[in-house]
Amino acid sequence: MNLDASSPVLGYQSGFGNEFSSEALPGALPVGQNSPQKAPYGLYAELLSGTAFTMVRSESRRTWMYRIQPSANHPAFVKLERQLAGGPLGPVTPNRLRWNPLPIPVEATDFIDGLVGMVANSGAEKPSGISIYHYRANTSMQRVFFNADGELLVVPEQGRLRICTELGRLDLEPLEIAVIPRGLKFRVELLDPQARGYVAENHGAPLRLPDLGPIGSNGLANPRDFLAPVAHYEDDQSRTTLVQKFLGELWGCELDHSPLNVVAWHGNNVPYKYDLRRFNTLGTVSFDHPDPSIFTVLTSPTSVPGLSNLDFVIFPPRWMVAENTFRPPWFHRNLMNEFMGLIQGSYDAKAEGFLPGGASLHSCMSAHGPDGETCTKAITAELQPSKIDNTMAFMFETSQVLRPSRFALECAQLQSNYDACWASLPATFTPNRR
Ligand SMILES: [Fe+2]
Repeated sequence: MNLDASSPVLGYQSGFGNEFSSEALPGALPVGQNSPQKAPYGLYAELLSGTAFTMVRSESRRTWMYRIQPSANHPAFVKLERQLAGGPLGPVTPNRLRWNPLPIPVEATDFIDGLVGMVANSGAEKPSGISIYHYRANTSMQRVFFNADGELLVVPEQGRLRICTELGRLDLEPLEIAVIPRGLKFRVELLDPQARGYVAENHGAPLRLPDLGPIGSNGLANPRDFLAPVAHYEDDQSRTTLVQKFLGELWGCELDHSPLNVVAWHGNNVPYKYDLRRFNTLGTVSFDHPDPSIFTVLTSPTSVPGLSNLDFVIFPPRWMVAENTFRPPWFHRNLMNEFMGLIQGSYDAKAEGFLPGGASLHSCMSAHGPDGETCTKAITAELQPSKIDNTMAFMFETSQVLRPSRFALECAQLQSNYDACWASLPATFTPNRR
C-alpha cells in the first residue's frame, strides 16, 4: 500500500442530510467511537460543528474528521490588506434595481479576489440574514479559504469549477450548484479559462430541502440527486496560505502544510452539489399558476413557521398548459425580498434587459412583474401547450430587506432606466365593453 497516494480524484455519495462516511485509506475511519486514544494511521480526530451542540437532533449538523494535522496547528491570523470587493452597504432604497453582468477582470483574479458584495440584510455577527455576491475569476486559487460567517451557496453562470474541500472534491458546471458549510476549508480551481456566477452567503439556519406538504413524498429536488464528495487528502508539506472571512473581514496566515489533509470522515455537515436539470418541476394542469414557492430547491427557515431566511428558487424549462390564463408571472407585490439572477437563456417575464450573469432586486412591497412587451404578448396569445426552453433563472428570496452595497449602487452595470420596462404597459381599460 502506498501511504502517500490519496483516493481517486472524484467520487460522490448520494443523499441529503445523511450520515455520510468516507475513507481515502482502508481502515482510517475508527469504528464504534469518534475519538479513540490513538486514531488509525496516526491521524488526529477533529469535530466540525455546523450547529450548536445542543441543537435538536433533526437540525444538528456535525462531521468528524481524521486528519494529518489538526486545524489548531496554525499561527495567528493577520488582517489582509486586500479585502472583499463591494465596499460597505450603501443607503437603503425601495426602488427596483437591475444590473448588467459584471465583466471578468483582465488581471489575475482568483475566486476570493473576484467576489464582489452586491446586497446584504444582516451583519455576519447575527445568526440570520444573507449576503449576496457575484464572483468573477480567471485564476485558480493557490490558497485555501474558509468562511466563519455562514454557509456558501455557489451558482455558476460561466465556467466549470473544481471545489477542493477538506472532505473531498466537487466538480461543478453551470446548471449545477454547490453548498459549502460554514467553516469548511476549500480551494476553488478553474477548469475553464474563466468563471463567473453568484454566491449566497447564508448566516442563518443551514439550507435544507423544503417540506412537500400535499405534494407528497416525491417531487421538486429529490434527495438522491444531492451529491457529497468522498475523502481525498493532500499530504503536502509546502507552504500554504490559509484565509478566513470573519465578520466580513479577510484574515490570513501561513501554514507549512496543506489544510486539505483529511484522510477519513463521517457526518452530516458536508459540502454537496446538485444538478438543477434534475429538478422535478411541478405546476398547474388546469388554470392559473401556483406561487413561485413551488420551485423551491433549498430553504433556510427562520423561527417563524413558513417565513424563510433564504429560499433558493429556480425557474427551469417547463411546459405551460394552463387554460384561459395569463401565463407569465403575475404582477405582484410581495412581503419577501427577491434577488434574481439568470444562468442561461432568457427569463419568461422579461423581453429584454435581464441577461445571463445579470441580476435584479425587488424589495419588500415593490411592484413588479412582466414587462410591457411580455404582458401584451401574453394577453393576446392563442393559448396552446408550449414549452419554455433554454432558460434557467433563479431567485434568492429572503424575509429581511436587502441593502445594496456602495459598489452595487455606483457601478456602471446598474441600469438607469429599469422602471421604463413597465412604462409601456398600454391603457386597455374600456368601461363600456367587458
Ligand atoms: Fe417577484
